[in-house]
Formats: sequence, C-alpha cells, structure tokens
Amino acid sequence: MSKAHPDTPATAPEDMQPDEAAAEMERLAAAVARANEAYHAEDAPEIDDAAYDSLKRRLADLEARFPDLIVLDSPTAQVGAAPAEGFAKIAHSQRMLSLGNAFDDADVAEFDASIRRYLGLAADDALAYTAEPKIDGLSLSLRYEGGALVHAATRGNGAVGEDVTRNARTIGDIPERIEGAPAVLEVRGEVYMSHPDFAALNSRQAEAGAKVFANPRNAAAGSLRQLDPAITAARPLRFFAYAWGEVSEPLAPTQWEALERLRAFGFQTNGRTARCGTVADLLAHYRAIAAERAELGHDIDGVVYKVDRLDWQARLGARSTTPRWAIAHKFPAETAWTRLTAIEINVGRTGSLSPIARLEPVTVGGVVVSNATLHNEDYVAGRDASGAPIRGGADLRVGDRVEIYRAGDVIPKVRDVDVTARPEGAEPYRFPDRCPECGSPAPRAPGESVRRCTGGLICPAQRVARLKHLVSRPALDIEGLGDKEVERFHELGWVAAPADIFRLEERYGSGLQSVAALEGWGETSARNLFAAIREGRRQPFARVLFGLGIRHLGEVAASDLARHYRDWESFARGVDTAAPAARAWHAADEAERAERAAAAAEGRRASVKKVRDAAMESAPPEARAAWAELVGIDGIGATLATAVCDAMGAEAERVAIAALVAELDIQAPEAVRASPVAGLTVVFTGSLERMTRAEAKARAEALGAKVSGSVSAKTDLVVAGPGAGAKGAKAAELGIETLDEDGWLSLIEGA
Ligand code: IVH
Repeated sequence: MSKAHPDTPATAPEDMQPDEAAAEMERLAAAVARANEAYHAEDAPEIDDAAYDSLKRRLADLEARFPDLIVLDSPTAQVGAAPAEGFAKIAHSQRMLSLGNAFDDADVAEFDASIRRYLGLAADDALAYTAEPKIDGLSLSLRYEGGALVHAATRGNGAVGEDVTRNARTIGDIPERIEGAPAVLEVRGEVYMSHPDFAALNSRQAEAGAKVFANPRNAAAGSLRQLDPAITAARPLRFFAYAWGEVSEPLAPTQWEALERLRAFGFQTNGRTARCGTVADLLAHYRAIAAERAELGHDIDGVVYKVDRLDWQARLGARSTTPRWAIAHKFPAETAWTRLTAIEINVGRTGSLSPIARLEPVTVGGVVVSNATLHNEDYVAGRDASGAPIRGGADLRVGDRVEIYRAGDVIPKVRDVDVTARPEGAEPYRFPDRCPECGSPAPRAPGESVRRCTGGLICPAQRVARLKHLVSRPALDIEGLGDKEVERFHELGWVAAPADIFRLEERYGSGLQSVAALEGWGETSARNLFAAIREGRRQPFARVLFGLGIRHLGEVAASDLARHYRDWESFARGVDTAAPAARAWHAADEAERAERAAAAAEGRRASVKKVRDAAMESAPPEARAAWAELVGIDGIGATLATAVCDAMGAEAERVAIAALVAELDIQAPEAVRASPVAGLTVVFTGSLERMTRAEAKARAEALGAKVSGSVSAKTDLVVAGPGAGAKGAKAAELGIETLDEDGWLSLIEGA
C-alpha cells in the first residue's frame, strides 16, 4: 500500500482538485488503517513511527482543506489507538445532490432566466422561489418507514453514504417517530452546531486537554462521526430539515408547503425562509440575511434559492450532481494579506504553464493558505486578456504584500498587491518562454492566454500529469494507483507510457526489482495493486476517452462521443477520416485572419464565410462528411473536434494510445434505459407547445436518444411542431419518420 514518500514532495492541498484529493485521502486512510491493523491486531508493524505520523499528518492537511471529503471513519477522527471499525455504507435511494453556485446578482438573474428558458416561461410569467439560509454543516438523510426512523446516512459521494443511525438518534432535533407521515419518507437536512454550543464545547475540550475544533462545521462533523454514539450524545448537535429524498406520496404541491409539512412532522425548519416572487425579492432577502449573519447564532455561507412549484422542480430535473431548480447564492469571499515568497510554474497535462504563488502561510476564512493561483502570464504582469490594466496595472513581484481571497471551496487567488510595501530591489517577474521541466519552447498561440510546453510526451511533467489523469477516479479509476504511486513508478522508469501500467505486473511482479520489494510496499499491497490493475482493463468506452486527457474533452463530451461512436474502431475510423478536414479547419482559421486583415487594410467588408468555405474545400469530401458527423454530435464543437483530431493524429500520441487500447477491454455504452427511443437520433424542429426545446432535449437524452440539430440521412426521427420549415421538408424528402409533439409525447409516455 502507499506510504509517505519523503523524496517526492506532496502536491500542496491548495493546489489539488477535489477528485485528486479524494483519491489520495482514501489511499491515506486505507494505509493508516492497514498500519493500525498491523500494529495492534497483528502486532507486526509494517512501517515506522515517522512514516505513520507523516501519513496521518498529510491526511489531516487534506481534510483541513477539503472538509467535504472527510469520511466518518477517518483515522484522524479516532481518539486513542483503537483501530477503526468503520461505518457501514448505505446506498441512497435517490442521489443526494449538491448545489450550483451564484456569486453575484447577475448569476442570480441568469439562474432565473435559465429556468424560464427551460420551462418556456416569459419574463413576466409568475415564477416563485423559496430563499433560505445555507447552513454550514454537513448534510444528512433520514429514512422513516411507517413513521419510524430506520436509518440515517451522511451524503458520502452522493450515491453512497455512511450509516450514522445510532449517532443521529442522539440528536434532539431528529424525531424518533413521526405522526401522519407517508409510509416511506426520507427527510434531508443539515447537522450543525450553534456558536454558543461550539464555544462551550471547545472550552470543555481545552480544559480536558482534548482536541479543539477549528470551526463549528468541523466540530459538527467530528461529533457526528464518533464511533461511540455516547460521545455524539454529549455533543450539542442540531438539525435543520430543508429537503427530502424518496417519499411514497408527494408531500405538497410546493417547496414552501412541503417545508410546512416537515415542520408539522416535528422537524426544525429555518425561520429565515422566505417565499419570493421576483429576482429583486430574492436579492433583497439575501441582503437582509447577510446583514443578520453575525446574529444568527450559527454559521451560514449563503442563501439557497429553490423553485417553489414541485411539479416544475420535477420538470427541471438535475444535471449530474446539481439540480437545475436550485442554486446557492454564496456570500463574498474572505480575504487576507500576506507576503508572496516565490512564483513557481506548474506544467499541466496539456502543457500549460501556470504560475503559482508561494505565500507566507495565512488563515483565510478558517483555512491556512500557503499557495494560490496566479492564473497566467498577463495576470502576473497586471493586465487582462485584452491588455487592459488590472489592479491599476500593478505587476506582482516576489517579496510583495498581496491580498489573498477564497470563496467556498474555490482555489485561493491573489487579488491585489500593495505596491507601497514593495521591498527595495524587487524585480519584475520574467515569465519563462521555455518549459521549466523539459526545456522545450513554450510559445503562446495568438489569442491564447497561456503558454504551452511543446514537448508533448517528451516532457516528464506532461507525461506524469497525463498518467495521473488516466488512472484518476473519473477515468480508469485504478484503486491504489494514485498520484504518489504514479510519480514513483515514473521516476523508476517503470511506467512511462499509459500501456506500461498494464505491463507492470508482468515486468515488476516479482524478483528484486518488483513492486513488492519497494520501500513502503510488500507482497499484499503489490498483489492488491495488480488485482486492481487487472480489473481496470475492463472499462466503459467513455472513461477511456476521458482518460486520454485530450484538451477540452471533459467527462460529458467523452460520454457524448462514446454514445455516438459506440466502439473504439468506429471512433478511430471517424476521427482519422475527419483529420484532413480538421486540418482544413485550422487553415480556414488562418485564412479568416488573413482575410480580415486584408479587408481592414483595403477598407472593405471581410468575406469570412467565402474564405472559410474555400479553405474547407481543400479537404476530400469523405473527410468533410466525417468532420460534419463529428461536429454534428450534440455538445461537440469545432474546437473540441480539432483537439480530438490533433491528439489522435500526432504520431507519438497515436502509438501510445494504440498500445493502451490494445491492453484494454472496452465496453460499449449501454442504452440509458430500455425506452422506445433509445439509440435513435432525434431532431426537434418548429415550435413546441407543451415543453421547451431544452426540456425536450434533456428528456430525450435521458431516454437514451441522441438529439441532433440538423436533419441528415442519419436522423431516425423528426419531431416537428408548427413552422418546422426547411428541416421538416428535408425530413420528408429523405423519408424520415416525422411526429408532431403529441405523437412524440405519447411515444415516450410511461418510458
Ligand atoms: S438543498 C437538491 N438547502 O449545501 C438540493 N442545501 O452546497 C440539496 N445546504 O449539500 C440541497 N443549507 O449540505 C439545501 N437550505 C439548504 C441548505 C443546503 C445547507 C448544504 C447541503 C448541500 C450543500 C450544497
């Protein structure tokens, strides 16, 4: 199993993405648990005390930075040396979602506008919301059957949480039985600690020489995650109900009335909840709550807005982790001043050179910050992407006093500089024009804000970053193979290219040079790793595509591509055929720029379209057809399509990708659900009356259909409302089945 590697400096928690951190935290927790077991249960320590301490310290650091990711049975929560028995897992019958964020009034206006667009409401149609304080605690789901509390689970990863039933039963605000409840009722809300209770707890803890908590939220989490419910019982936890999961019958027609019912069942609901009819009302309530923030008696970090009508909530549905019908309007970021001690360059997976500020550690909103992002070259120099001055044009120099800000879980940023406090002799920062890792030129493409290392796979930083990405959770998700391990194997030269991961066992499975023989490993941990790698050969197509780490190719686009092409061969063929057109597209970009310049010089209008079309003509027709297919996939634009073609077209990359694919057993995506439209390509055209375009598209996709914007020979079904026009005519011409809106709705009814 993994252990602390003092030779490879750990990524600072501030620089990590939640995914990376979660994966490392899981490994660290497992390593500590394993060490505990070896020490206590087997009486045969596997690692020395210093290594043990450094594992625990690193875990605690990550937990401080990512409190959301703390698991209840974390070894850092254990008092004394007894090994964790851990909490059982509970799968949520309905996912526990988190919330999207709004940071300013414009974001809130856009939230309202997007809901109106989705539901097809005009700007002056009535649309009510609830607005309630966003409690800063941890969310909990309580399941009642026949009115009796049967279990309580934390959010966990949203799909599976930890069983904390025994602890939840000790919380006064959580009723054991409720009268008149639906047969099945899951109540969701926030466990938190009040300010006075927090202060009293901390002074008791300090007196007893026990752990003092950094803030009420950590105290609430630490108290709920006690393995001994007697300890939880002694902690003053409270609970606000604000949502629900599975219910055997609807609670009410609106959010407002549902909250009233929860209150009638005996739950606390937030008294500062308001029902608002307009965006202006929402903002007024937000400001009122912000003004009262210090007197509320508990921490809040914003205000949550929810569409009041529950039938509309249902129509709006959710994206992968957040509902469309709710948003959290966060309070402004917290700030602090400190000294900039160094500027370092991080080379990313796609070669981007990102400047990072090293700081004299400072507490910002309860978290110690020692690194912050500096965005890019221009930001350091004191100008924005268009060259206009920011911070009054002041650049950032090593030694400067700088203002740091962070909002919620957002990576800390350097916001301002105090030039009057600049030390004498501070030099302007010279941004490197070569990659600090491999020395390759790092030019900045026209119109881009970042410099990129051109070393590709010869750059060790890019190589390692890509390997880490490949095995990360949302990609191949290979347990036990995290950042640290990838770095180690890469350093040893055991894993250089992606495919090497799958040859690790064959090459380093035994003997003197073997994983088991490495410091911090052993037979069992090596065996576990190899088993995880073997298991990792079987992969959904979308994960493989995402794991390739192609620029602009996120999880959603990867699954769009996977659903469209279904298998590797069709994808590779499609992309290879489209490649000349992708090159023509690049050429068209250049031709367009030239035409614009020429037109400006000659004082005439630029004929951009003509010039672009002419450039595209240079690609053979089959390339143009394959290109049209690729960019025609909903969610895939020309930028992403060219990035995919570029990545697959570069010789060295292609060799590496082909070798990886040869090691894998790639699974075609399943049709989302057996539905009458699964797998069909559907085009909506004309005006729809019973749903909006966005809604029609989301529903069709949820039923496994592909939604395309244009009618072609590949279209299976056209749903045409009044005024279908050219697309309707084209469908008729191609003999494609056409339905009206009612026909479509009855086709998918009950699906
Ligand atoms: S509603 C589907 N309402 O904020 C909507 N969440 O950042 C689920 N939270 O995970 C959440 N106060 O732990 C909702 N009044 C409130 C809330 C609230 C606090 C927490 C909750 C959620 C997190 C998202």
